[in-house]
Amino acid sequence: MKWYRRNGRDLPWRRTRDPYAVLVSEFMLQQTQVATVLPYYSAWIRRFPDFPTLAQSAESAVLHAWQGLGYYDRARNLHGLAQIVTRSHAGALPRDLLAIRHLPGVGRYTANAIASFAFDAPLPVVEANIGRVLARLLDLREPIDSAAGRETLWDFAALLMPQRQPSAHNSALMDLGALICTAGKPQCGICPVRSFCRAREPALLPIKRMRPRIELLSEHHSFAVHGDRVLLEQSHARWRGMWILPRWSGRPATGVPLHTAEFPFTNHRVTLSVFRQPRRAPALTAAHWWFSFNELQALPVPSPHRRALNHLLARSS
Ligand code: ADE
Repeated sequence: MKWYRRNGRDLPWRRTRDPYAVLVSEFMLQQTQVATVLPYYSAWIRRFPDFPTLAQSAESAVLHAWQGLGYYDRARNLHGLAQIVTRSHAGALPRDLLAIRHLPGVGRYTANAIASFAFDAPLPVVEANIGRVLARLLDLREPIDSAAGRETLWDFAALLMPQRQPSAHNSALMDLGALICTAGKPQCGICPVRSFCRAREPALLPIKRMRPRIELLSEHHSFAVHGDRVLLEQSHARWRGMWILPRWSGRPATGVPLHTAEFPFTNHRVTLSVFRQPRRAPALTAAHWWFSFNELQALPVPSPHRRALNHLLARSS
């Protein structure tokens, strides 16, 4: 705690105890790094300052504000959660841990993090940073992403929990992992808990199970412009509710694509190729829409398609 008071990070969601703001930060931080989250968090709190405002907003506005953060289920869950809290809990997050846990998108980690950081409840939290710190302190040889390894970490985190300043204790463990006990080269020489750390080769910990192999996917889309309008398709799959370049349909695409790019998606590596839509009318469905160039900025578009669109429109103008 002494180390944390001097060296802890000054993060905007630590300057508030507003359960809504804490919850938004934890949803954003679930699969995204702090540096990426910072600008999104401030913009989000300005745009949707409380549960009722978020609950009343259109899903497309919510997805648009999340655009670029990825894992859009988090945004959809947060939106649904705001509607439940507004409808069933009079717009205030319940303080009861079980009630929090039952909200969409909230698992053990997020429920405990909210109760700890918003209500100062003495509950353990184990995310990537804390998991690494605890695995090293214990010299844990079990994979931390196995059921047994996970339970060992949560039990140990509960054991370490102080009754005084539990929230600051959790923040301190997180920052120790983020700043000293890092994944690459841990700085054991200046670590405040080195005297009771059991790790002999900390850089080799934590152990993780073998990853599923990365699968390669190839996806073909089309670029059709008519006057000052471009054709887009609303995704029903991976990016449900967001707008993408229309999926290529009909005969297989041939020739040189106008644009290619690679991007990661969960355990896939996707190659995106965009081809010019031939003159014949594309097979339009209810999911297709012609948007004027002016309308594009306000639409929720996933990052790989946003980059492709920017590139293609810059070239064609
Ligand atoms: N990762 C997950 N939750 C976090 C938090 N509250 N602060 C910093 N990093 C985090």
